[in-house]
Amino acid sequence: MNPFKYGSIVLGKDFCGRKDLLKQISSHIQASQNIVVLGERRIGKSSLVYEAVRKLRGTHLLYMDLLGIKSIDASCRRMLRAIVTLEKRVSWVTNMIKTLSHLRPTITTDPVTSMPVIFFDASVELKASSIQEVLDLVESIGKKKRLVVVFDEFQDILNTGDANEAIALLRSKIQFHRNIPYVFVGSIRHKMDEIFISPNSAFFKSAIPISVDPLPYEEFSKFLIKKFEKGHRKVLGETLRQVFEIANNITGDIQQLCEALWEVTPEGDAVSSDKLKAALELIFSREQKSYEAFVSLLTDFQLKCLSALAKEGGKKIYSMDFIKTVGPHSSASVNRAMTRMIDINILFKRGKEIRFVNPFFKAWLLPRGR
Ligand SMILES: Nc1ncnc2c1ncn2[C@@H]1O[C@H](COP(=O)(O)OP(=O)(O)O)[C@@H](O)[C@H]1O
Ligand SMILES: [Mg+2]
Repeated sequence: MNPFKYGSIVLGKDFCGRKDLLKQISSHIQASQNIVVLGERRIGKSSLVYEAVRKLRGTHLLYMDLLGIKSIDASCRRMLRAIVTLEKRVSWVTNMIKTLSHLRPTITTDPVTSMPVIFFDASVELKASSIQEVLDLVESIGKKKRLVVVFDEFQDILNTGDANEAIALLRSKIQFHRNIPYVFVGSIRHKMDEIFISPNSAFFKSAIPISVDPLPYEEFSKFLIKKFEKGHRKVLGETLRQVFEIANNITGDIQQLCEALWEVTPEGDAVSSDKLKAALELIFSREQKSYEAFVSLLTDFQLKCLSALAKEGGKKIYSMDFIKTVGPHSSASVNRAMTRMIDINILFKRGKEIRFVNPFFKAWLLPRGR
C-alpha cells in the first residue's frame, strides 16, 4: 500500500517532527492562552494543531473549519454542527434546542450511528448576533470539560458580508472565556494580519502568533526515506532534493510527489531522478482538468505572463528582462495580470515574490512552452 499521505490531516506515525512547535502549542493550550497559527497552504498547520491536541489527553477539540465560507449564516451553522458533533448526548442536544428555539431546530437520530443530528430551519437566516449565542454554547461546554476551540482557515471570515461585526462579536465573547484556549489557524498571511496585527482590528494583539515553516530537509527526508524502504524501494538523496525543489519545500506537495514516485516505481527498484518525469506525468493526468479550467479563465496576455513566471521565477517580474519576454507591455499591465491571477488563486505573494499556489501546475506549464 502506498505509504504517502497527502490532502488530509496526518497524525501519529504519519506525522513527522515539529517537536518544538508541538510543545509550544500544548503549553499555550494548557495555560488557556489564545494563539494564531500562520503558514502557507499545505505546510502542515491543521495537522500540527490536531496532533498537539491529540497528545493532550483529556482535552476535547471543538474544530470549526471556515474554509470557503461566504456568509455569517453558513459560519454559524458550521459552528453549531461542530458543537453537536462534540456533544453527542441526546439530553444536552435537546436542551440546546430549547435555547435556540428561534432557529426552529429539529432533532433526528442518525440510523447508522444512532447519534442525534440537528437541523436548523434553512429559511431562518442566522445573523452576526447569533455568533454570540453559539459562543455561549461553547462556554457552557467549556464549564463541563477541558476544551480547545480551533477555527481553521479563519481568514475566510473576511469573505462574509458583515465580517467586521462578526469579528468584533467573536472577540467580545472570547475575551471572557478565560478558561478556554482558542486557536486561530490561517493561510493567507496578509488577510490574517488584517485581523490580528492591524491596530484597528478587534483581535489586535489578542493571540500569540506561531509560524509554521517548511520541515527541515534533514528531518523530513529521513522520514520519507523510511517510508520508501518499507515498500522495498530505495530512494536516492539526489532525487529527494529535486522533489523538495519542485514542491517548493511545501510539506503536502512533497508527500504528493513522493506518492506519485512510489506509484511509478516497481517494488525493488531504485527511485532515481529519471522516475520524476513519470511521477509528474501521473500527477498531471490526475489534475489536468483543473489546470485546463485555470487556463480557460485567462486572457492570452495573462497566460503569457504566467508562462514567463513559470520559466523565470517570480522575483523579478518588474525587471526589463521579464517585461521583454511578455512583449511590448508596461509594468502596469503585467501588474494587473498578476493581481488578477492572485485574485483567482493561481498565484500568491510571499514578500516581494510571486509564486504558484500549485507547484505542479507550474511544472505542467513549463515544457509546453505556452
Ligand atoms: N508533520 C508532518 N509530517 C508529514 N507530513 C505532513 C506533516 N504536516 C503536513 N504534512 C503533509 O501535508 C499535507 C497537508 O497538511 P495540512 O495539515 O492539511 O496542511 P495545512 O493545514 O497547512 O494546509 C498532509 O496531508 C501531509 O501530506
Ligand atoms: Mg489546514
